[in-house]
Amino acid sequence: MPGSLLMAAPDAVAHAPVLADEIAELLAPRPGETVVDCTFGAGGHARVLSADLGPNGLYIAIDQDPDVRAHFATFAQNAACDTRFVRANFADALAGLDAEGVRADVVLMDLGLSSMQIDRPERGFSYSRQAPLDMRMDPGRDRSAADVVATASEADLTRWMREYGEERYARGIAKGIVRRRAEQPITTTADLVEVVKAAVPTAALFAGGHPAKRVFQALRIVVNEELDVLEEGLDEAFALLAPGGRLGVICFHSLEDRMVKRFMRDRVRGCICPPGMPVCGCGRQSAAAAITTRAVKPSPEEIDVNPRAHSARFRAIVRRAGG
Ligand SMILES: C[S@@+](CC[C@H](N)C(=O)[O-])C[C@H]1O[C@@H](n2cnc3c(N)ncnc32)[C@H](O)[C@@H]1O
Repeated sequence: MPGSLLMAAPDAVAHAPVLADEIAELLAPRPGETVVDCTFGAGGHARVLSADLGPNGLYIAIDQDPDVRAHFATFAQNAACDTRFVRANFADALAGLDAEGVRADVVLMDLGLSSMQIDRPERGFSYSRQAPLDMRMDPGRDRSAADVVATASEADLTRWMREYGEERYARGIAKGIVRRRAEQPITTTADLVEVVKAAVPTAALFAGGHPAKRVFQALRIVVNEELDVLEEGLDEAFALLAPGGRLGVICFHSLEDRMVKRFMRDRVRGCICPPGMPVCGCGRQSAAAAITTRAVKPSPEEIDVNPRAHSARFRAIVRRAGG
């Protein structure tokens, strides 16, 4: 799906960890190592990546969603290694671990929403369920989606829907939001879906999936500041890696994947002298080597069993000694 946003669709089997075998093989956690899982969710990857850590290994689970604690408790009870949970967004959590002097042998990010979040109507992520328009992965965040929709300018709403949702009718929908909120507040998922349906041409209501899908995605990215946290989180994750440490990221949409690809390419790149220089003048050394030369995608068999996996892209690098 080049150039278009990739969607993580809700479904009943979405707890299945995406690309689990490939990731375990490529990140290869070894006995006694420390793994930092930035997006613990239901602990699906945790079960696979902790399997070989042994009693001297440590699995650090991060998630900003407080509901994840229950999944972590079950995981910790059954794990053969030491475990620890940090509830925070991963940029802040990684910075905190770095300040403590923790060094990671493996860092994994599995970006986006979990099926538990999508399937709980009260969280407001689902356009097909009536609920308060919330969308905060961390309920302690200041602004819910309803607050964003109530206060953002028409220009910002248009831009976000275009950039983060690739919504073709962004301008009309933003106008519809501004018109509607002047009459009565938009406080539920159903209110927003109604505005979107009224703003798009009739033909668009029946083509390309649910008409509010892209608007909900854009708002979710804004509410959770997902791109800013990822940009910061990648730097923090790399800084935390021990020499030989591996960083792997699973993305579900193209904006994130582009950011991750650029970040990893930059770490792998050495000399940045202009082409044609007889000898290197910059002296820049590459800080990492690629583990994946191009994005790893799920097999058709995995997509059959777990349709949520279909848009997943996995990339990984390994930090060089002195990198
Ligand atoms: C796709 S799910 C992860 C699923 C997990 N790998 C598994 O196998 O069960 C993403 C999880 O990461 C959390 N999350 C997303 N972005 C985050 C961030 N910036 N900081 C901390 N947690 C985040 C979400 O709350 C959600 O629980």
